[in-house]
Amino acid sequence: MSVTIAFDVYGTLIDTHGLVAALQELIGRKATNFSQTWREKQLEYSFRRGLMQNYEPFAVCTSNALDYTCMFYEVDLTKKQKEILLSSYRSLPVFNDVEDGLRRLKANNYRLFSFSNGTADDIENLLVAAGIRDYFQGVISVDDLKSFKPSPAVYSHFLRESGAKGGEAWLISSNPFDVIGAISAGMNAAWVKRSKNSIFDPWGIEPTLTVENLGELHGKIG
Ligand code: LAC
Repeated sequence: MSVTIAFDVYGTLIDTHGLVAALQELIGRKATNFSQTWREKQLEYSFRRGLMQNYEPFAVCTSNALDYTCMFYEVDLTKKQKEILLSSYRSLPVFNDVEDGLRRLKANNYRLFSFSNGTADDIENLLVAAGIRDYFQGVISVDDLKSFKPSPAVYSHFLRESGAKGGEAWLISSNPFDVIGAISAGMNAAWVKRSKNSIFDPWGIEPTLTVENLGELHGKIG
């Protein structure tokens, strides 16, 4: 059987910092730090909701994190401005290397799925807006389990839904916590290190493979 690949979405296919220019218009110089804190809080809220077993869709973590970040940076956005930002979050841009990388993998018969904290509806819309939906056989979401990465249950859910076995399946992610979660749950995992400054968590669990862009995956996994 051909190799099954789970692509993380936010931060791996889709650039979660794609709103920095829009943020600059609203809040000026704080935009880059604001975007960083917003993303970190979004993930922290998903981790905490997972541990508390108090699930809300990922978009709620995103919205709550936006409110927190406004308070943290003492930025006064109107309800309307927040709505516009959250609506833009549904059509964030893809990274430059994504389309080429997906095309090569698909041409070589890898089975490609997206696998995300986002709900299936949100991810469908995001991938369609980015023009990359057709590369994927399916959109698999943690929402089915009402839990979040890196619970081992969500990686098992991916394997069940995609019909793959752990040893034959790969997670591709730029998020170190996701790579460590997948390996800990018995999958292979490639870390996409697009920036030289990215740091992998020093837990003693290393990525099966590290690449700088998605174009390098073809031929290295299998
Ligand atoms: C996702 C998170 C990790 O797309 O960003 O699953």
